[in-house]
Amino acid sequence: MDRIAALPKVELHLHIEGTLEPELIADLAARHGIDLPFGSLAALRSRYRFEDLQDFLDLYYANLVVLRTPDDFAELARAYLRRAAAGGVRHAEIFFDPQAHVSRGVALSDVVDGLVEGCRAGAVETGTTSALIACFLRDRSVEEALDVLEQLVALGAPIIGIGLDSAEVGNPPSRFAPVFDRARELGLHRVAHAGEEGGPEYVREALDLLGVERVDHGIRSVEDADLLRRLAAERVPLTVCPLSNVRLHAVPELAAHPLPRLMAAGVVATISSDDPAYFGGYAEDNYAAVATQLGLTDDDLAGLARNAVQASFLPPERKRALDDEIDGWLAAR
Ligand code: HPA
Ligand code: ZN
Repeated sequence: MDRIAALPKVELHLHIEGTLEPELIADLAARHGIDLPFGSLAALRSRYRFEDLQDFLDLYYANLVVLRTPDDFAELARAYLRRAAAGGVRHAEIFFDPQAHVSRGVALSDVVDGLVEGCRAGAVETGTTSALIACFLRDRSVEEALDVLEQLVALGAPIIGIGLDSAEVGNPPSRFAPVFDRARELGLHRVAHAGEEGGPEYVREALDLLGVERVDHGIRSVEDADLLRRLAAERVPLTVCPLSNVRLHAVPELAAHPLPRLMAAGVVATISSDDPAYFGGYAEDNYAAVATQLGLTDDDLAGLARNAVQASFLPPERKRALDDEIDGWLAAR
């Protein structure tokens, strides 16, 4: 295994639906006797160039049509864990979008049961552990999000937390305060996408009104020096997704990525892959890209990996074990 793939990693920002590779789309479409979205596999592949977040989301949601049964969701999760483990991921806190499936007529219990089974089987096969975080779609209603949260509770879904994703601009965090209040009451962890396309004010709202423990993306925080100081002082982790930011034009090119500025400001930055089937790379590809394009050293990469361990919702003893593994990686240079 190459050196960067061997670095023990924790993935904190990974949409399981964003790991749906074109080949699996084709397999599932054939299995269910449904037409491939966009005709052929070649035609589908030609769509993987995006103008912005919404342009990507249009394809991401359209491709979900092939996910119908618990087995489909199990296969998706298992395939991801297999791929992630090959790139050095030891633990993943996995996002899923319940509303994107329930709104298509898939039973919530089928989504949850399938993902849970895929994560279980994937852990047995690879040793990579995982946990599930249910994300709510910020371009749909608060009432629907609250309703789906209560359904997850009623099912006894083994989620560790909630998140907030989908189209950001025009859908500020503030609207979702009641959902995050309820999650806090339920003892669930809270994270939210903010500062990907939306400005630093979205990050402030996520902190002040949603009480998030991590901010997903958060890169536009670099535009606000006071906010950067606050993130560093309060040690709020950011889950940065470099290849995603390039593909969705949140940054003009990787060489101009704000990651070094975040690191220099003392922010707890972490590296994740977001939607790897769409953005050209899994966890190790994201680490490799920042190493090459931003000139990061092994110590920098180990620091980013350690940040993710600390920012995870794992128990202290597992965090210590993963930290020891990272020590071992550094010592083996
Ligand atoms: N941003 C917002 N919503 C999403 C993303 C993302 O990168 N991926 C899947 N849903
Ligand atoms: Zn995301």
